[in-house]
Amino acid sequence: MNDYQKMRKIPITLVVLLILFNCLYSCADKTYNSETDIYRKVDSIMSLMTLNEKIGQTIMYSGDWNKTGPYVTSDNMKLLKEGNLGSMLNVYTSKGTKELQKIAVEETRLGIPLLFGYDVIHGFKTIFPINLGIASSWDLSDVEEVARISAEEASASGVHWTFAPMIDIARDPRWGRISEGSGEDVYLTSEITKSYVKGFQGDNLAHLNTILACAKHFVGYGAAQAGRDYHTVNMGDNELRNVYMPPFKAAIDSGVETFMTAFNELNGVPATANQYIFKDILRDEWGFNGFVVTDYTAINELVSHGYAKNEKHATELAINSAIDIDMMSGAYRRFLKELVSEGKVDEKLVNEACRRILVAKFKLGLFDDPYRYSNEQREKEIIYRPEFLESARKIASKSSVLLKNSDEALPLDKKQTIALIGPLVKDKKNILGNWAAAGDRNGKAISIFQGIKEYLDDKNILFAKGCDIDSNDSSGFSKAIQVVGKSDKVIMVLGEDYNMSGEAASRTNIKLPGIQTDLIKAIRDEFPDKKIILILMNGRPLDLTIEDSLVDTILEIWYPGTSGGLGVADILFGKYNPSAKLPITFPRNLGQVPIYYNVKNTGRPISIENPTEDYKSNYIDSPNTPLYPFGHGLSYTTFKYSEIELSKENISETEVLLASSTITNTGDYDGHEVAQLYIHDKVGSITRPVKELKGFKKIFLKKGESKTVTFEINSDNLKFYNNGKLTIESGEFEIAISGTSDFEFNKTFNLTLN
Ligand code: GLC
Repeated sequence: MNDYQKMRKIPITLVVLLILFNCLYSCADKTYNSETDIYRKVDSIMSLMTLNEKIGQTIMYSGDWNKTGPYVTSDNMKLLKEGNLGSMLNVYTSKGTKELQKIAVEETRLGIPLLFGYDVIHGFKTIFPINLGIASSWDLSDVEEVARISAEEASASGVHWTFAPMIDIARDPRWGRISEGSGEDVYLTSEITKSYVKGFQGDNLAHLNTILACAKHFVGYGAAQAGRDYHTVNMGDNELRNVYMPPFKAAIDSGVETFMTAFNELNGVPATANQYIFKDILRDEWGFNGFVVTDYTAINELVSHGYAKNEKHATELAINSAIDIDMMSGAYRRFLKELVSEGKVDEKLVNEACRRILVAKFKLGLFDDPYRYSNEQREKEIIYRPEFLESARKIASKSSVLLKNSDEALPLDKKQTIALIGPLVKDKKNILGNWAAAGDRNGKAISIFQGIKEYLDDKNILFAKGCDIDSNDSSGFSKAIQVVGKSDKVIMVLGEDYNMSGEAASRTNIKLPGIQTDLIKAIRDEFPDKKIILILMNGRPLDLTIEDSLVDTILEIWYPGTSGGLGVADILFGKYNPSAKLPITFPRNLGQVPIYYNVKNTGRPISIENPTEDYKSNYIDSPNTPLYPFGHGLSYTTFKYSEIELSKENISETEVLLASSTITNTGDYDGHEVAQLYIHDKVGSITRPVKELKGFKKIFLKKGESKTVTFEINSDNLKFYNNGKLTIESGEFEIAISGTSDFEFNKTFNLTLN
């Protein structure tokens, strides 16, 4: 009820009446502080608001703390003072947010608090591996931990809302934003989505260390034509509903409070004005009642799309698609009132948008205390807590994928002399990856070099940069070769600049940039027998076909974050036995792209026995298989899977099938393994993928130990959309439990509908 006292501009008699009104209502049905109570409070406030003030809630402008899109001039401070600004992005710190919040709360007629949103994607100050790396851990508790710690730090620094998780399925490594998602698979991304939402929002948004999450970008953004960012997206409804939409439904099932529109058009209609996805599906079919924010200037971009005649028409199209907040385009601000007065936009739509936004502000407790997230003392206590940095170290280890390890070149022996070669050995900037929020790129991060120094004496570490990330200057090669000559083993840390992935960073070439591969060749030519360990710091699957033929070991560390150097060193010296698995396919070459594991069989599939048979669906210059498949990842030990056992051969629609396999650690190290459950629906009313991940379990096995993993399969796991209808059909299914998607089925079961 404190909110009413905040409205200092209203005659006190009216405030007292409102309090009485609210008390009567709340006492009447004893649902005080429930959602209905919040709605009642919101309606009371809205009854006092002018149309301008309601439109004001739909307006979002950026502070100038970060630049995350094209420059837009905005008189956001004038709007703020008029009480016509509902939210801001790219503003943080307790001090900074408090200053702006004071204007909104104490200098405007109704004192409605601002909402501060920010891209807290894989950490706020403590930066974790990029999300493609976090997905490589296949560890849902780790995912939730990343989101929870991110929310702890962000909420301590004035941030109420993150524009995360990014849950766009992506299968094209040319697309720079493949780095931000959780890979190519719908089931893995959906499970990871639930953990992100739970970690950000917790059990109660009124708790101080929780923030609104945002499912983005709805929908289909990862299917941009040719991997070029913002490019056209065309796909059938079955593909949309079976592949790209399920993670967003998972977000809603986990209680996500907000959505963000995608920049792309979908089948000719830009997402930001697409009533099919935002009204028919999101609102009507899924019943989502949170608020939707556009992406940055996306309403204005409807004109460039050729879908709106002008920005006024764009405004009408967006609000009629139930889009609630206009991020940065100023369209709602300039045209909504006029459109309402002309009868082209029903004022009800403005009211619904305003209501959804105010409900979120109430849930965060901002009307009880608008400054609760802006506490400088708490900020000092929480940012960079040692346990957060330790968590970042642990997750950096668990996100790094051991792609190859010939002759057990890893783990390293502390007595050996190691040559550290490459432009990313001492890097403390790129290591945070893209979308590193308020992370510190000027020295806070632990480099790979520093991490290794924790394990080796200085005399055992030799260094030469060798070359830059992206230049053709080979003048450093000779020094590098000289250094390697004095070493027992070589570790090369190569990769991409962090700006080579992320938004507006698509590449037409997915090889290592510059002459980094030439440096590997030069060292291999000079030292044919020297063990070369390649550590990769990059934001996308790369074409590593040449590197794979030159080096003994490849460790994909993505961008491992603030504590990355320590987390990676823990793997190099065997303190942590690598357990990560690829959430995305690594192609042999760009020509195979898009390439992913759950493809359709086609009418002319190649045979394993004779892959080059003619008149089959294959290439004349490359195998169909990837270099490293989805679900692949090695350990320092080995695991053996028993034949899969089923609880029954036939199930009805209401029965549950249990599938089990006993996994044995057959090597010399204790370690984790990710057991993956795959099915194949052999015949359907639409063709079904040759494999579909339907479960995974990460288990720990001491050397020599065995454990049985059991998965439950029920009819929900076997359903798919066909023509907008969730369908299940009788028939034969193949099933397997494996440590990678690269296997052959050898077991089936039958589903018979009742
Ligand atoms: C950017 C991104 C979006 C981000 C937003 C705010 O353009 O597309 O993911 O949340 O703008 O920075």
